[in-house]
Amino acid sequence: MKPETMSPSNKRGKFITFEGIDGAGKSSHIAGVVELLRAHGLNVIATREPGGTPLGEKLRELLLNKAMHPETETLLMFAARREHLAQVIDPALARGDWVVCDRFSDATYAYQGGGRGLDKNKFADLEQWVHGHLQPDLTFLFDLPPSVAGERITAQGRELDRFEQEQADFHIRVRLAYLERSAASPQRIQVINADQPPEIIKKQVEDTVITRCL
Ligand code: TYD
Repeated sequence: MKPETMSPSNKRGKFITFEGIDGAGKSSHIAGVVELLRAHGLNVIATREPGGTPLGEKLRELLLNKAMHPETETLLMFAARREHLAQVIDPALARGDWVVCDRFSDATYAYQGGGRGLDKNKFADLEQWVHGHLQPDLTFLFDLPPSVAGERITAQGRELDRFEQEQADFHIRVRLAYLERSAASPQRIQVINADQPPEIIKKQVEDTVITRCL
């Protein structure tokens, strides 16, 4: 199709993901980005992993609460992701909507690879199988020391899920795996120092979205 006959609706939307260790404080900034994009007149789907579909949310319930073999955990993460792509992400992007997702495959590399110590080479095959056709256009990695994140979680005083209950060394390995992943894809993954006041983080995130995506 000639460019002059293209309307915004037949242009593929963008896919933005947020990552970080538990307690990094992504949630409010995800909401801020969704608001910013909507203020620019874009249709935005805000979603999360594991989850994002009725089946995926059932898998999330199991993944966050039931003990299982680390490889089962990995396969269920990718199974939920396959469903999420088929039902939500791919159709949204195809119709020109934007998708903002709380976690995606970088989390599997970090948690199941770094945290659980599984062979990351195996993930590459699963990643290719499940979403060889798609990578996020932009990923924010909220980085901070696990000790600071742990204090934030403790201060919330809520019940902890299976990942949050892991020991400090687990979260240290998750953080390192995330940083390794960002070093391998510096164009896609923007590291944000999450140990700063929220208004500074908000500005850094929004400036990046404006410069890189809008
Ligand atoms: P999270 O997204 O942090 O939700 P909440 O903000 O409600 O706590 O929780 C999801 C958990 O799932 C988080 O601890 C990371 C984990 N996870 C993995 O271990 N691997 C994955 O591939 C994904 C997507 C998440």
